[in-house]
Amino acid sequence: MTNYQTKPVILVTGGAGYVGCHSVLQLLESSYRVVVVDNCSNAYVPEEDSNGNIQSLPESLRRVQILAGRQLEAFYKMNLVDQTESLNDVFMRHKIRAVIHFAALKAVSESIQQPLNYYSNNLIGTLNLLNVMKRHGCRDLIFSSSATVYGLPQFLPVTEKHQVGQNVLNPYGRTKYMIEQILEDLCSVPREFSNKMNIPAPWNIIALRYFNPVGAHPSGIIGEHTQDTPSNIMPYISQVAIGKRDKVYIYGEDYDTYDGTGVRDYIHIMDLASGHTHALEYLLSTPAVEDVCEPSYNNGTYKVFNLGTGTGYSVIQLIQTFEYVNKVKIPYEITFRRPGDAGVVYADVRLAAQELGWKAKYGLEDMVRDTYRWQVRFPDGFKSKYSDEKC
Ligand code: UD1
Repeated sequence: MTNYQTKPVILVTGGAGYVGCHSVLQLLESSYRVVVVDNCSNAYVPEEDSNGNIQSLPESLRRVQILAGRQLEAFYKMNLVDQTESLNDVFMRHKIRAVIHFAALKAVSESIQQPLNYYSNNLIGTLNLLNVMKRHGCRDLIFSSSATVYGLPQFLPVTEKHQVGQNVLNPYGRTKYMIEQILEDLCSVPREFSNKMNIPAPWNIIALRYFNPVGAHPSGIIGEHTQDTPSNIMPYISQVAIGKRDKVYIYGEDYDTYDGTGVRDYIHIMDLASGHTHALEYLLSTPAVEDVCEPSYNNGTYKVFNLGTGTGYSVIQLIQTFEYVNKVKIPYEITFRRPGDAGVVYADVRLAAQELGWKAKYGLEDMVRDTYRWQVRFPDGFKSKYSDEKC
């Protein structure tokens, strides 16, 4: 029997969200002890008492525990922007070995309408987290970044050396870029300076740049909980598939691609989640703070990795594969290009393979099958009633 008490405790911020909950599940399955903080702004929480106290977990995490057959160490409803003292208490209560930081606002169009909200939430939340980590000597972090930091690709496939920060056309994308810059600066503090300041250990940070996450856990029990009209293509297609929407609007058919529609590197959420456990193993293979005694210990380490499959598919290919695999009809109409869209984006994924030993395993057919299974079982996402017979 596994003795979990000897396993490291990982703090996951934003662990109730789409990428977060699939990653938490894989962490639990890999025997880590997991503490989650989430403000639940994008999560469905079934019950609150009259004082607004949470009676139960966000539904996503309740299901994660069922799938894992294990409990989280703890869940805290918390806003990183204005609850720094509560976050400090979490670090006092749990011996956090490393942090995976997902918590962020992520809707592109909303970020254009509410830039201040996005900059405050994403930047201040991250700075608060980093300050509390520093206070507790926790320097190991995985940051949830995005291929959006590359802007319009200058060459393909996009490698990690591609320029970042140019032509990033919305505040959401700029917050990801700015946070990456902050993290890189932290890891670049010169060794002599760290020694002089008695800084116990350097930062050890990985930013993971996601391409286009899609799909759901193969059980169909957890997936992407879409509250409003989806702006991403896959949740839109799946809502058309179950009749929630009439048709898909394809943004442009005059790109320089195989069939004229936009090409993207879609990655199954299960692969994305396993990218995080691989990155965590890589981080933890460097010595923990208390094991670092020699004063000449290195500068920090900052690494970035693309997480994609390395293969691009067009919107039409996505729709046709969805129809073929799931035996449903997806009506569509061609409309104008969406401002700011690139024609083709796909990743060079060799670095993650070489350094993390990670490679995507799921193909496009798995992605559309698992998306549809989740959508059919739970048409209103986590708000749809769950009963054990559905498992
Ligand atoms: C978008 C965001 C990006 C974010 C990513 C998260 C923009 C400009 N970019 O990327 O910052 O990190 O989501 O997953 O919003 N499409 C349609 N009809 C639709 C929706 C999309 O034809 O209703 C097309 C798009 O033109 C594109 C492809 O489908 O060619 C994928 O679009 P989407 O799912 O929105 O992802 P990205 O644009 O790659």
